[in-house]
This record gives sequence, C-alpha cells and structure tokens, in this order.
Amino acid sequence: MHEVEKYIRSIPDFPEPGIIFRDVTTVMKDPNGLKIAIDSMIDKVKDLDFDVVVGLEARGFALGTPIAYALNKGFVLVRKKGKLPCETISEEYDLEYGTAEIEIHVDAIKPGQRVVITDDLIATGGTVKAAIDLVERLGGVVVGCVFLMELAGLKGREKLEGYRVDSVVAYE
Ligand code: PRP
Ligand code: ADE
Repeated sequence: MHEVEKYIRSIPDFPEPGIIFRDVTTVMKDPNGLKIAIDSMIDKVKDLDFDVVVGLEARGFALGTPIAYALNKGFVLVRKKGKLPCETISEEYDLEYGTAEIEIHVDAIKPGQRVVITDDLIATGGTVKAAIDLVERLGGVVVGCVFLMELAGLKGREKLEGYRVDSVVAYE
C-alpha cells in the first residue's frame, strides 16, 4: 500500500448510487498527505523533457500548480465551459456520471510546446482525453499524464493508448 492511500477518504454512493467517490480533500488538508502526494507525482514526471503543466479543473489545479512550481515549469488551466475570459477552444466528453465540456485559451500553448497533464484522478479517461485533444489542437505535444489516483476498473488507460500515463495509487 502506498503511504498516501491512508489519507484518501472513500465515500460510497456519492454523487449517485453505485459510485465510490475517492476524496482528495483529506489528502490535501494534512501536511504530510499533501507532501507525499505532490512529491510522488513529481517523481513520476521529473525526468520527462517538457515545458508546461496543464491542470484540469478543479482538483487538477490544486495538485498541478505545486508540481509546475517545483519543476520550474509554467502552469496552464483547462476549465469547465464558460469560465475562461479570452478566446477559447472546447471539447465535450462523457464522465463516470454525466457529461461535461472543457476549454482552454487559444494562446495558452504554443505549437511544439511539450506538455504534462495533471489531475487528481482518472476514471473513464474522458476528461483527460478531451484535454489531450485541446492541447493537440493548439499544436502542443503531450509527453505524459499524471494522476494521484486511478480507477483501473473503468479502463481509462484504454482511451490513452500511445500516451505515457502514471498514477500513484490504483483502485480496482
Ligand atoms: C473528476 C476528476 C477528474 C474527472 C475524472 O472531476 O477530478 O477531473 O472527474 O473522470 P473521467 O476520467 O471519467 O473523465 P469532475 O468532473 O468531478 O470535476 P471537478 O474536479 O470540477 O469536481
Ligand atoms: N471522478 C470520476 N469518478 C470519480 C470518483 N469515483 N471519485 C472521485 N472523483 C471522480
């Protein structure tokens, strides 16, 4: 068992029956939990050659920014539809529960920039696949995706064939 696992709170039947919600807030509120989580994610990507971290709203912002800061990279926000103020491109996608749409500023990534995508969790992989599509539409190169948690039973990795995918803790 990875040391960070004891900080993750699991809530049955949230936000709907049958879903076990893996709650990162209990990791982040604890100084040791936060440190282990961020350090473990940094370990997964520190040897990659890349320019910028892209974080996915909302929990990917909280985990992604300290990773970018520690590795001296920039940080780009991918937000839910309607939140970014300048010109954007968007992608729709399906979730474990429902559908959503995410956006990125058109000037957030320059062609050829090398990108690592971060989020707290990969479930079906719909969110990160939509984010990869946004980055690639802007000419960015996705060199890796890093998550604190992976719901392996939902087979999100199958949507990401050909991409490097790392997670710290995997649940079946
Ligand atoms: C959660 C999680 C990931 C996404 C993973 O976010 O933080 O972003 O779901 O699911 P997927 O792999 O099936 O796409 P959520 O959509 O609940 O948004 P939030 O972080 O803004 O609450
Ligand atoms: N996002 C999608 N599925 C999730 C889950 N089971 N727990 C936390 N976040 C999620």
